Amino acid sequence: EKNGYDHFMLKEIFEQPQTIFDSLRGRMDAHKNQITLSGIDAIADKIMAARRIIIVACGTSWHSALVAEYVIEELCRINVEVEYASEFRYRNPIISSEDVIIAISQSGETADTLVALENAKEQGATIYGLVNVVGSSIARISNAGSYTHAGPEIGVASTKAYTAQLAVLQLIALKIAKLKGTIDDQKFTYFIQQLDAVPEKVQWILDNQVEEIQRIAKKYSDANDVLYLGRGYNFPTALEGALKLKEISYIHAEGYPAAEMKHGPIALVDETLPVIFVATKDSYHEKIVSNIQEIKARKGKIIAIVSEGDNRVEELADDIMVVPSCDEIIAPLLAAIPLQLLAYYIGVERGLDVDQPRNLAKSVTVE
Ligand code: M6R
Repeated sequence: EKNGYDHFMLKEIFEQPQTIFDSLRGRMDAHKNQITLSGIDAIADKIMAARRIIIVACGTSWHSALVAEYVIEELCRINVEVEYASEFRYRNPIISSEDVIIAISQSGETADTLVALENAKEQGATIYGLVNVVGSSIARISNAGSYTHAGPEIGVASTKAYTAQLAVLQLIALKIAKLKGTIDDQKFTYFIQQLDAVPEKVQWILDNQVEEIQRIAKKYSDANDVLYLGRGYNFPTALEGALKLKEISYIHAEGYPAAEMKHGPIALVDETLPVIFVATKDSYHEKIVSNIQEIKARKGKIIAIVSEGDNRVEELADDIMVVPSCDEIIAPLLAAIPLQLLAYYIGVERGLDVDQPRNLAKSVTVE
């Protein structure tokens, strides 16, 4: 069932043009300029009255929550908080009926997320589940929700479920923005077109970047530590890239907001440290270019994810992975792909079992 791929992880990475399409299909009409999400309609009054949205998740799903925080606050002007389910459930959080909780989970069975939701529901909050596995416990406990439609994910490391979460979270943000009137029609149309183009842009990465990423993977497969840096919408991309590498290659990796490096991690930088910058063209670009220069001055090895045609970063970097241009809000959907491939090929290079990394289970049903 691996369809000729060596591993499920690789198959699932390559499925993403289709899975992202599937998670958007039937929900987004680029011609009629509308988004249909019955789950949002079902709790529209609660969302309109919400004091804030709290997103609860673990692991990779927590990273998609962080992206959603940036996007929802920008487009909908609602306060969003992102919580690790394991912390949220134990720290006696202040919750009321004016809170909408979005739970994100591939499996829908993660114990910490499930119990966090049970607690929040008891205190009167409205629960919206964004879940991949149909009929799972989190789907059942939710007041409303959407499925991600990524299909079964077998590899322990989440790949296609993550990008499907990002795609649906974008739709949720746009839909709420439209309900609240915080986005004008022109911008709404523009974002729909941007989302519509994502599957083909992901396909472009898979068609054009794999060989280069394999070469980069070979070059750095002996690293002991890798630092991942990003800003803004792509700060969570850095966290997710680092988690993928840890899980699949057992190389110690850390993700940071690029500007935080001065507050500690920069002490690690020497000529042996690969530093991966998520440096796509966005409103933070000048800032991240300065961060790249700071690492270069300390002889760190720079690997950058860049937007097509960005010669400036190309000149500074030792190695680059290219993604097509897009709006900055959409960029995490594209930038995730090279980082998944990099982790995969480094794991393979190191001879590891990438589908079943040691010590990990696909779904964490115990706390
Ligand atoms: O099924 P869930 O999305 O609730 O799972 C959450 C995490 O356990 C999961 O994302 C984990 O971090 C993956 N191994 C990441 O690749």
